[in-house]
Amino acid sequence: MKTYLVTGGAGFIGSNFILYMLKKHADIRLVNLDKLTYAGNLENLKEAEGDSRHIFVQGDICDKELVRGLFEKYDFDYVVNFAAESHVDRSITNPEIFVETNVSGTVNLLQCAKESWLRGGVWAEGKKYLQVSTDEVYGSLGAEGYFTETTPLCPHSPYSASKTSADMFVMAFHDTYGMPVNITRCSNNYGPYQFPEKLIPLMINNVKNKKQLPVYGDGMNIRDWLYVEDHCKAIDMVAENGKVGEVYNVGGHNERPNIFIVKTIIAQLGQRLCDPEIGENLIKYVADRLGHDRRYGIDPEKIKNDLGWYPETTFEVGIVKTIDWYLAHEEWMEHVTSGAYQDYYDNMYQNK
Ligand code: NAD
Ligand code: DAU
Repeated sequence: MKTYLVTGGAGFIGSNFILYMLKKHADIRLVNLDKLTYAGNLENLKEAEGDSRHIFVQGDICDKELVRGLFEKYDFDYVVNFAAESHVDRSITNPEIFVETNVSGTVNLLQCAKESWLRGGVWAEGKKYLQVSTDEVYGSLGAEGYFTETTPLCPHSPYSASKTSADMFVMAFHDTYGMPVNITRCSNNYGPYQFPEKLIPLMINNVKNKKQLPVYGDGMNIRDWLYVEDHCKAIDMVAENGKVGEVYNVGGHNERPNIFIVKTIIAQLGQRLCDPEIGENLIKYVADRLGHDRRYGIDPEKIKNDLGWYPETTFEVGIVKTIDWYLAHEEWMEHVTSGAYQDYYDNMYQNK
């Protein structure tokens, strides 16, 4: 049986990963360490309730004693680090917490893994640290070309600068101490349990409530969308078979301008809810995000060729599944948008 330390497993991708792994592997133990910030939610893990293979621990990845204790107790085979402050807009207003969690937290996990796995100068067999990173570390593309694993790192936002810094520490632990590591760099995810500060769930929620749809700038910034389960599959494959010390880009060639995403959501929900008040008149072009990256596009050839990964859900299918999920989980949306979300929303959008 393999034991994983999964950090940030109550967030969007982390909780999808926990549920994916419990379905996929019978003989597994997942220790889920999550601080339960505004983005972490135990409701995301309801399907795992009562499953003894999943052990939830509330705590901070920066807490050395706690993380050290977990390594002693469980002797992890893998660490998969999802825990992060993940929202670019929040990083623009409050960068410090991004350094704390994304950089210092990662270094703490690396240190604790090293203490536990490097025994008498020899790395214990079969161990691996996997850092869940992002395509944003590569910066922004022009109209042509894609990010490959050798594209120079050129982050622009405080969020992407913190993720880049974390990636560099991960590689430093590999280069300096020989630590067994992988880094995955994925494009934009969408699907169930995504917090409605991010484009797709925010727009679904606003369309449903017939609120204005704030589109930054000219709406022509391009993101490369991947259904979250395909990302989870990639991480599972890299943890098991990725070559030590390597980076793997993950993406499904699904580039869409933001305005296309917004109009798709309006069309789908307008049809589904049969509401004539739902239409493109809800769109409001607002002030652009500072330093807004123009285009992301992943070249996934390496993970496809080396590990046999491929995306299973097309955008056309994935967006319908996602909208259906949010329509069926009104209570989830009500819970996450009550309280602090309203303050965030008002502060973020009132002057735009
Ligand atoms: P999220 O914001 O939904 O979830 C982050 C989780 O981390 C939350 O459960 C939160 O409680 C937890 N957390 C935050 N600080 C913590 C700390 N100090 N200690 C322990 N737990 C802490 O994020 P997400 O969208 O699920 O992203 C997960 C990871 O994947 C991040 O590292 C992100 O950079 C990366 N990523 C995200 C995307 C995307 O499109 N969402 C794409 C590529 C990579
Ligand atoms: O590319 C991977 C990254 O994708 C991850 O590393 C990040 O954690 C994740 O948050 C995401 O970052 P983005 O900034 O691309 O995602 P977001 O959903 O915030 O925005 C997507 C696009 O939509 C971006 O061009 C900004 C735009 N946007 C976003 C919001 C919230 C709007 O036009 N209006 C909005 O209200």
